Amino acid sequence: MTNFERIDKEVAELLSRMTLEEKIGQLHLISGEGGHLSDHLRHTVTEGKIGGILNEVNLDTINELQRIAVNESRLGIPLLIGRDVIHGFRTVFPIPLGQAASWNPDMIEKCARVSAEEAAASGVNWTYAPMIDIGRDPRWGRVAETMGEDPWLTGTLAQAMVRGFQGDDLSKPGSIAACAKHFAGYGASEAGRDYAATNVSENELRNVHLPPFKAAADAGVASFMTSFGDIDGVPASGNEFLLKQILRREWQYNGFVVSDWESIRELSVHGLTANDKEAACEAINAGVDMEMTSDSYPNFIKELMDEGKVTIEQIDYMVSNILRCKFRLGLFDTAHTDTSIFPASGNEQYLQLAKEAAAESIVMLQNNHNRLPLNRSELNKLAVIGPLSDDDYEQLGTWIFDGDPSLSQTVLQAINQSAGEHTEIQYVRAMETSRSRSTEHFEEAVEAARSSDVAVLCMGEESILSGEAHCRADISLPGNQEDLIAAVAATGTPIVLVILAGRPLTLLNVLPNVDSILFAWHPGSMGGPAIADILFGDRVPSGKLPVTFPKMVGQIPIYHSQKNTGRPATPETYRHIDDFEPRAHQVSLGNTSFHFDAGYTPLFPFGFGLSYTEFHYSEIQLNTAELQMGGTLEISAEVRNNGERAALEIVQLYIRDLVGNVTRPVKELKGFERVHLEAGESRRVSFTLHTDDLAFFNRKMEKVTEAGDFHVWIGGNSDTELRAEFKIV
Ligand code: GLC
Repeated sequence: MTNFERIDKEVAELLSRMTLEEKIGQLHLISGEGGHLSDHLRHTVTEGKIGGILNEVNLDTINELQRIAVNESRLGIPLLIGRDVIHGFRTVFPIPLGQAASWNPDMIEKCARVSAEEAAASGVNWTYAPMIDIGRDPRWGRVAETMGEDPWLTGTLAQAMVRGFQGDDLSKPGSIAACAKHFAGYGASEAGRDYAATNVSENELRNVHLPPFKAAADAGVASFMTSFGDIDGVPASGNEFLLKQILRREWQYNGFVVSDWESIRELSVHGLTANDKEAACEAINAGVDMEMTSDSYPNFIKELMDEGKVTIEQIDYMVSNILRCKFRLGLFDTAHTDTSIFPASGNEQYLQLAKEAAAESIVMLQNNHNRLPLNRSELNKLAVIGPLSDDDYEQLGTWIFDGDPSLSQTVLQAINQSAGEHTEIQYVRAMETSRSRSTEHFEEAVEAARSSDVAVLCMGEESILSGEAHCRADISLPGNQEDLIAAVAATGTPIVLVILAGRPLTLLNVLPNVDSILFAWHPGSMGGPAIADILFGDRVPSGKLPVTFPKMVGQIPIYHSQKNTGRPATPETYRHIDDFEPRAHQVSLGNTSFHFDAGYTPLFPFGFGLSYTEFHYSEIQLNTAELQMGGTLEISAEVRNNGERAALEIVQLYIRDLVGNVTRPVKELKGFERVHLEAGESRRVSFTLHTDDLAFFNRKMEKVTEAGDFHVWIGGNSDTELRAEFKIV
């Protein structure tokens, strides 16, 4: 008998002994009392009226709750203890969008592992991560939590995160159940407004938004969470197509589904249902097993069963899904947490990993005059300016309920430690917050810059400016940061701009005023030392953008895998507004599918990132120009490090299917290799593609690979022009 068969047997046996009230109790997830344990909560647990608690992280309270559940309830069913362990627990790693910029699945898995160990040491056994919505709208605050705009990269990194959280055995100490969220299509919220409607066609859903969730399911993710979104008129928590047709029938998923916070009750706010009872009915029949924090299930399941709208078989199925996870977690063997078996939270090893992760997430967007790396021996005076230079909390980013700012090392602290002894450092915060509009301290900043060899400006967004419900219609640097940069630039002192933010920003006005830009996202506990290492050249930046940076907010959505349209923009067809003569006629001067006042390219493309060396790509080769259906294509190219520094390059593989039963993107990421090259070293980097890797969902929603013409590129970002062609025959 396999472990799964044993567990299913145990689930069935336990289910057979449960009363209807006890079954309904397993479907109910409540929010904790923040370390408090009221008599009411004790009684609720003793009565077996809840299946889990979220937002309780006091270990003694959790152990007492588990003791009551196991020793004092009739059947001794332990509790799920849920928490948003999104990018760290005590030790904080870069926000997921930043981790994605590392293009390093192994690193991401390690970060998730440490996060799980620290959370498990506090009694948490279930995290609401990975968040794998596709992030193509930087106005949306939750883009910070995504792993970017590309389905293939997101799916690859999602599997790494699931492996990290869950390990190879959920019952082992330090493993916690993961949760793929928010199922599905949430990233397509209208206008980047959180909780807004998402009008996504089934074909777009299947080709873009669902693949990362399928990857997570294939990786064995223990649970799914429904999104708040209204998907083509049916909110996810009442969407049977998503939860039964896709998740259960097509994917044969056997984990459990939890709603988002009160998202079942909100079905009545959306207007899908008229009241909580109808909402409960809709959600149960759609396939939501566990209700987070609203109480329509405990209040109405019995009535709905009496009315024949919900069956005991449905309830048994829902309860089984939840119990199966509890057995897989080993909670029936022990639900007590002995924190002494875990490494100390925030230990040096964890912090070193946080530094590595932060360093690999940093993307260098500009480096005019090779201003970076700074040469310690030539640096007599250095100005450090800006509201995010020395803030141990703001560098942590969104969703860090349990993050410990005392573990943080800030940019200023790290520069003080890392600069040469003879370098005099002047620090001016200049703005109270990233949103400040005061110029009161600008003069102080200008003077500090004027008297320095270089000015390092640490700007961007405070952590509160991204994350859930924190959407921005204007994604430029908040407050009067641009004015501060301009004021410092007027001194003529070279500027190195370090940006800490939770999303891509529109930086068009900033680029001319600064020499170098390091985009560090919200880098977590060890962001300071990671940034300092790159500033002084102790590390070479290797991060690549997992999301496109628009020139201006009006270009959104703009991303690498857009469709060609019937009138694509090319250097030949595109006309800028300035090309128009006075009194230009309406039907004049070319027309394309792009704005004529913004150009048709982004500020920085997907996959972009500079290094302290230059990589040259050449000689792309295929093992065949005609690929048999079912066959494998070998693609390779020569990559040379043309500079003086050894460095890591993330070599990327893109394809285009020129003609399809439905139109296909102009570029799709289909692989990447992390390649370390010594100065002057050249290497042939190879990829293999099976025809299955080129499959997509057609008009009939069948997953097919079609014969026809393809382009394939290899390069250091999605704008690469090193291209070859092949046919599938
Ligand atoms: C929130 C979020 C979800 C989170 C949950 C529990 O509203 O949408 O991502 O996991 O509530 O905190």
